[in-house]
Amino acid sequence: MIGRTLGAAGLRVSGLGLGCMGMSDLYGPADEEESIATIRAALDAGITLFDTGDYYGHGHNELLLGAALRGVPRERFVVSVKFGALRDPGGAWLGIDTRPAAVKNAIGYTLKRLALDHIDIYRPGRLDPAVPIEETVGAIAELIRAGYVRYLGLSEVGAETVRRANAVHPVLDLQIEYSLISRGIEATILPAARALGVGITAYGVLSRGLLGGHWARDRALPKGDIRNHLPRFSGDNLGRNLELVETLRMLAQAKGATAAQLAIAWVLARGADIVPLVGARRRDRLTEALGALEIALTSDDIARLESAVPAGAAAGTRYDARQMGILDSER
Ligand SMILES: NC(=O)c1ccc[n+]([C@@H]2O[C@H](COP(=O)([O-])OP(=O)(O)OC[C@H]3O[C@@H](n4cnc5c(N)ncnc54)[C@H](OP(=O)(O)O)[C@@H]3O)[C@@H](O)[C@H]2O)c1
Repeated sequence: MIGRTLGAAGLRVSGLGLGCMGMSDLYGPADEEESIATIRAALDAGITLFDTGDYYGHGHNELLLGAALRGVPRERFVVSVKFGALRDPGGAWLGIDTRPAAVKNAIGYTLKRLALDHIDIYRPGRLDPAVPIEETVGAIAELIRAGYVRYLGLSEVGAETVRRANAVHPVLDLQIEYSLISRGIEATILPAARALGVGITAYGVLSRGLLGGHWARDRALPKGDIRNHLPRFSGDNLGRNLELVETLRMLAQAKGATAAQLAIAWVLARGADIVPLVGARRRDRLTEALGALEIALTSDDIARLESAVPAGAAAGTRYDARQMGILDSER
């Protein structure tokens, strides 16, 4: 496993991280035993970075990750946790609460569910429009001083919010969507993060499965699968996007790789400060994702790939219009 360094603080993590969200939420039913086996297999393969959120499955994801990590020496893994999203019992999104009191309340439950005495990276899942980022970060800084958290992270915020947060306490990393077909961070967010020494943990590197090469046009999505509401998976957009995936598959074949591997390898090649989080929910998908580490992309390969799948080539935005309107990273 290759290693990467996150942020100016220099946290060493594996070059690929495992995002656990889909094991509890948003991508239809998952098999709990297989999820735990996947986390264990990731550890065996040298993955050290595991991402979760307290609102993924109302705590289920943290309980699952905690169970999979039980007995594993603490120095072998880094846990990144998001908090703040409010959801009703049916899973509907109600908003975000990152007031200092909410931050300090949430972490107690997280520590219990994960059965850990500290969290490595703690981050608000979204910017709370009602709470200055300085106040939220101040509360996390207090948790850091008290030993409950090691590092501050952010998620889906824009350059100005990163700067404001970093002025209160150093930001280790920004978690944000980044893939061949979601390249919005390149204009201002990525340069700002680099100037401040803030690392990037990239999610959605397969655009939530779209670029994985396993998507079928007629795939039926169960109720509660977020992709029912994502423009890239709907109607004509899906057909056009799957044509891009065919192009990707052909380029991948020439490298002896799969479409998913090439998409992950492209993100890996974007900089040593970027760590892709892969959302594998099963061991076979994890094995495939790990294969991306074996692909050496030349500058010619990258140029060919970016001209076949240019920035902005995807049909549809990465979230629905309501979400796009409230994302700080899209301002
Ligand atoms: N900060 C945020 O706002 C935010 C938002 C979303 C996610 N995240 C984090 O980022 C992680 C990754 O995000 P994501 O799940 O959307 O990313 P992703 O890797 O783009 O998509 C994961 C999906 O890709 C499919 N897939 C196909 N081939 C795969 C392969 N070889 N390896 C892995 N997956 C493959 C899987 O579908 P099948 O299981 O059907 O095969 C899986 O459902 C999440 O788990 C979560 O921790 C953060």
